[in-house]
Amino acid sequence: MTDRRSFLKASLLGAAAPVLAWSGKLFAGPVPGALSTGTARVVSTWDFGVAANQAAWAILGPGGRALDAVEKGVQVPESDLKNHSVGKGGYPDRDGHVTLDASIMDADGNCGAVAALENIEHPISVARRVMERTPHVLLVGAGALQFAIAQGFKQQNLLTPEAEAAWHEWLKTAHYQPSINSEVRDYGKSGGQATGMPGGAGNHDTIGMLAIDAQGRLAGACTTSGMAWKMRGRVGDSPIIGAGLYVDGEVGGATSTGVGEEVIRNAGSFLVVELMRQGRSPHEACKEAVLRIVKRRREASKTIQVGFLAMNRAGEVGAYAIQRGFTYAVCDARRQDAVLPSESVYATSYS
Ligand code: GLY
Repeated sequence: MTDRRSFLKASLLGAAAPVLAWSGKLFAGPVPGALSTGTARVVSTWDFGVAANQAAWAILGPGGRALDAVEKGVQVPESDLKNHSVGKGGYPDRDGHVTLDASIMDADGNCGAVAALENIEHPISVARRVMERTPHVLLVGAGALQFAIAQGFKQQNLLTPEAEAAWHEWLKTAHYQPSINSEVRDYGKSGGQATGMPGGAGNHDTIGMLAIDAQGRLAGACTTSGMAWKMRGRVGDSPIIGAGLYVDGEVGGATSTGVGEEVIRNAGSFLVVELMRQGRSPHEACKEAVLRIVKRRREASKTIQVGFLAMNRAGEVGAYAIQRGFTYAVCDARRQDAVLPSESVYATSYS
């Protein structure tokens, strides 16, 4: 039950007490603080961020570049056929098309993105090519595919038999509610995590990743197949610079997961970075951005999930979510497999 009492309870807990809802491997220590000079860190959304972080660390650890690390890192869930909310194996739209959204950004304001891209396994790499080889920021649909093919990316079918079977199951009722519920319908049925899909466990929505390398350079990446059973042509927050991802080398970076429409309405990741610019910690900035969504959408917020993850230029990390169950993975020289539970507005799980 997500009532006023649980809202107040979670609010009063404030920054002091993380809601320890996640029952897996937890970070054995305090929330990651500032890094010493010359050291690196990578963070990403959800527990599946661990494997992505480790791929990024293979670049960051030996002194590689943050931009290369985030691209390589998020390619892991893009290729994971068991992950039904990112890349190949993602659940399709209501018409059976797997359409992918992704964005990438560096510390100097360089950025690239693709939206509604089909048949390409690594939209994040196409987004990077948009950034580096075109005068544009965002390519969509057929144009994005045309560009990807021209850049040498191979086309392939991204709809796996498992995802197709789930789509056929959904078609039996074809119950569709724009913007909410496909993200959280199974919330509470998989260890309190927003599963991001109706009728299945182990699906956790977008991966957003932020990295700082040993030279102090920041970069971020964000990639998703979006809401399961979305309307054809629907684009979420992930490829929208300032919504699903924002990085500013003077301040830090932020990324988001959950119902993209609510993040877009509030320019969420840009807001988090701007709040950090004004002096808020990453945790405080994420919390303020989440509370702004809840304040504007008090009733709707009870049944949706949005989570923000941020890292400032000192390497300090913070996160906050509407619903309990959002986790984030942290990887640095000390430990490469840490998962932390985010605090949330509502302390009780949605069920
Ligand atoms: N956050 C992913 C989406 O709404 O598409």
